[in-house]
Amino acid sequence: MVSWLVTGSNRGIGLGFIRKLSADPNNIVFAVTRNKSTSSDLLELESRLKNVHVLQADITDVPSLRNIATEVGKVTGGTLDVLVNNGAYLPQERADYTLDMYDGKEDLLDEDFGNFFKVNTLGVIKTINVFLPLLRKASQTSLAKIITISSGAGDSEFVVNTAFDSVAAYSVSKAAVNMVTAKYAARFKGENLLFLSISPGLVNTHPEIPEEVVLESLRPIITKFQTSYPEWDGKPLTPEQSVTTVLDIVSRLTTKDSGASLTHNGGTKDWL
Ligand SMILES: NC(=O)c1ccc[n+]([C@@H]2O[C@H](COP(=O)([O-])OP(=O)(O)OC[C@H]3O[C@@H](n4cnc5c(N)ncnc54)[C@H](OP(=O)(O)O)[C@@H]3O)[C@@H](O)[C@H]2O)c1
Repeated sequence: MVSWLVTGSNRGIGLGFIRKLSADPNNIVFAVTRNKSTSSDLLELESRLKNVHVLQADITDVPSLRNIATEVGKVTGGTLDVLVNNGAYLPQERADYTLDMYDGKEDLLDEDFGNFFKVNTLGVIKTINVFLPLLRKASQTSLAKIITISSGAGDSEFVVNTAFDSVAAYSVSKAAVNMVTAKYAARFKGENLLFLSISPGLVNTHPEIPEEVVLESLRPIITKFQTSYPEWDGKPLTPEQSVTTVLDIVSRLTTKDSGASLTHNGGTKDWL
């Protein structure tokens, strides 16, 4: 059995991971949500499938993470094979913000960067630290993996090539989490632990909204991306398509890949 824990799993890409992973009876899947009682999709899966366990934690809150680590340990005998750091803060309010727009709004600058870093960067560090003992125990018998879902928004070359100047605070928090991956890879080099950042691609996480409405809201960004990636069809992936490609890459990783930041296509430049 392979044990997986996915944060931010009650919707979007995280729920896609849980659906895909739980379909394989060889997996034990720990689905982490901030509010178990309202996570109806997860509760439905848990009621139907023996290999799904729904746990409640906020990745910024270490006591809540320690509680679920204890719960995971009780099921697995103190190990965890794969941690997927998927949960993230991505509100739409400041999606169009470029860095210069914060001039004269320094309180907002401090607040935004604080909020994005607290979840997307520091929350990932807290989660990894809490689960390291379980991951290291798993690494005594097989390669334990720490997968952090990052974004092309955090890649300097992609940002410059596509003139992707908006979602500034989010992008910087994702660039920072790529360095978090590299630092852990450096720290545990030589151990049977693999740290990877991987972008899921552009994913439509709003199945409830008609596709044309989603595409229209993303039009400015899609147009920018297509200028540099003319061969891209401009269609966001479904969560299922995204997690299928990500999991395929994850299944092929070796310790040589530790510390890398990859795209969902498995490379370092093919972001779309
Ligand atoms: N969608 C894309 O096109 C895209 C592109 C590039 C990268 N990504 C990355 O892919 C991952 C998933 O994105 P998504 O589009 O599926 O996002 P989403 O639909 O907005 O879901 C985000 C998830 O993170 C959880 N979360 C937020 N703050 C948290 C916290 N403090 N502790 C624990 N969980 C928290 C949310 O929980 P609640 O439901 O309780 O709020 C939710 O489950 C993120 O890391 C994102 O940066 C997405």
